[in-house]
Amino acid sequence: MARVVALVALVILLMVASAEIHVSALGVNWGNHAFNPLPPKDVVKLMQINGIKKAKIFDADYDMIRSMAGSGIEVMVAAPNNMLYSLANDPNAATAWVKQNVTQFLFQGGVDIKWVAVGNEPFLTAYNNSYLNTTYPALRNIQTALDQAGHSEVRAIIPFNADVLTDSPKPSGSRFKPEYISQIQPMLEIFNRTGAPFSVNLYPYISKYQNPDFPLDYAFFSGTTSPNVDGTIVYQNALDASLDGLITALGAAGYPNMAVMLGEIGWPTDGAPFATVELAGRYMQDMITHLQSGVGTPLRPNSFTEFYLFGLLDENWKSILPGPFERSWGVFYYDGIPKYPLNLNSGLTNLAATTLKALDYPPYMKAQFCVLNDAAVDKTNLTQNVQYACERSDCTALNPGSTCSMLTENASYAFNSYYQSQNQDMNACDFQGFAKVVTTNPSQGLCRFPLSLVPTAKSTSGASTLRLDSGVLALTLAASLVSALWTMAG
Ligand SMILES: *[C@@H]1O[C@H](CO)[C@@H](O)[C@H](O)[C@H]1NC(C)=O
Ligand SMILES: *[C@@H]1O[C@H](CO)[C@@H](O)[C@H](O)[C@H]1NC(C)=O
Ligand SMILES: *[C@@H]1O[C@H](CO)[C@@H](O)[C@H](O)[C@H]1NC(C)=O
Ligand SMILES: *[C@@H]1O[C@H](CO)[C@@H](O)[C@H](O)[C@H]1NC(C)=O
Ligand SMILES: *[C@@H]1O[C@H](CO)[C@@H](O)[C@H](O)[C@H]1NC(C)=O
Ligand SMILES: *[C@@H]1O[C@H](CO)[C@@H](O)[C@H](O)[C@H]1NC(C)=O
Repeated sequence: MARVVALVALVILLMVASAEIHVSALGVNWGNHAFNPLPPKDVVKLMQINGIKKAKIFDADYDMIRSMAGSGIEVMVAAPNNMLYSLANDPNAATAWVKQNVTQFLFQGGVDIKWVAVGNEPFLTAYNNSYLNTTYPALRNIQTALDQAGHSEVRAIIPFNADVLTDSPKPSGSRFKPEYISQIQPMLEIFNRTGAPFSVNLYPYISKYQNPDFPLDYAFFSGTTSPNVDGTIVYQNALDASLDGLITALGAAGYPNMAVMLGEIGWPTDGAPFATVELAGRYMQDMITHLQSGVGTPLRPNSFTEFYLFGLLDENWKSILPGPFERSWGVFYYDGIPKYPLNLNSGLTNLAATTLKALDYPPYMKAQFCVLNDAAVDKTNLTQNVQYACERSDCTALNPGSTCSMLTENASYAFNSYYQSQNQDMNACDFQGFAKVVTTNPSQGLCRFPLSLVPTAKSTSGASTLRLDSGVLALTLAASLVSALWTMAG
């Protein structure tokens, strides 16, 4: 009898354990392009209190990786695009990269590095084919270096943007674009050999932003008045259609069963039309439920796709060239406060519902804000001062329809945004006498006036690089804008 009980207990344990496997299909993208980003130890705490078990970062920042040692979090580190050339042309560079950025952390009780992302959306149109010929050899050299170092559990992937696929209206017609196929084909051979998935970033939000006629209900998961009928298959949501388009293209390239991974998926909350807390909360919840329920897609029913939310935190120092929504992709604000209720366990039958938990003690600087001094009577130069502040900080919340667009004037928000970005330097709250420091938080409802986090010293110096994520389709950059941004970020 005792034996039977023990056996039943074991079976139940195994069932719980297999539910855990489903939990781990959800990960987050952790980017840190912010003024005084939340320190790594606080980010790790935030992930832990919310049961997040996978994190993808955009570089190989020592402090970020090291902070995840012993945390139980599975990590994807990345070699940024600006390293692809050297990694492609020099196998020793790949060996050194793996040694410093992977091997170093794989000690007992160290960091659970599972993936190395080689580049980030290297074939994005905005990059002008700059990385076309170096991405595959860089992938090959990194995977070889991983193999030679004996890290059989670590696999190299490429986070692709969705426009590596042809613009087929029907998923069944989807193929890799002919200009990329000679490079992608040998990558698929590597993924097939190592068992790595084909990773792609998907953004129905950007489809809606670029084309307001895109039916909103087709981006969501509650049925649509505009389904995509493809032969006998009726697609009710953009995500399934995109996934099946990729699966079709993989099949046409000879790998019909290759696993797919969603490297980035999300919905922003501010700065542009349709970027609202309400829509984002709904999208994220329904998308998570859909992916975790295991319904799969019409071409792959009853399957799970590993997916990484974009993103964990807002990043107010990101380039807004792709759109003014770029700094507001976080599920949490920059300080670890959730934007909307979200059950990360939804769709999982064996786990209790939960809701996002806030970081208890975000490391804020003193409660000081910089606002318009109403005593200033001559308003002659006010507009120029507001403009000065906004050009040097983040004012996307003031855009029409955004969270602070209801303010009767922009000056207080703009001045405060600049003042916080200057670590509350007294001299950064003058603006020709227009501004003054106050200690009461001027935030109103969803319009949050930022309060800077305490700057943290880094143990290694990381150069700031321009990162354009989100499957920015067919985006072309004016060279002058790019150089302006570099100046800003530098
Ligand atoms: C490790 O990664 C960092 C961040 O990308 C990079 O700066 C550094 O050069 C890499 N190390 C080697 C030996 O390539
Ligand atoms: C892209 O290529 C065009 C023409 O080859 C060139 O004029 C432009 O400066 C390039 N842009 C970038 C961002 O490299
Ligand atoms: C990539 O290689 C092809 C074929 O060798 C060549 O035509 C093309 O110019 C190369 N592109 C770049 C950006 O180096
Ligand atoms: C690799 O591809 C072959 C041929 O398509 C397939 O039979 C095999 O299952 C694939 N391997 C993996 C690990 O997916
Ligand atoms: C406006 O700014 C200019 C240049 O910064 C300055 O010379 C001028 O005195 C200002 N005007 C007023 C009314 O403050
Ligand atoms: C505030 O800034 C936004 C965004 O630049 C602009 O659209 C709006 O007109 C400004 N409002 C006022 C009162 O200046």
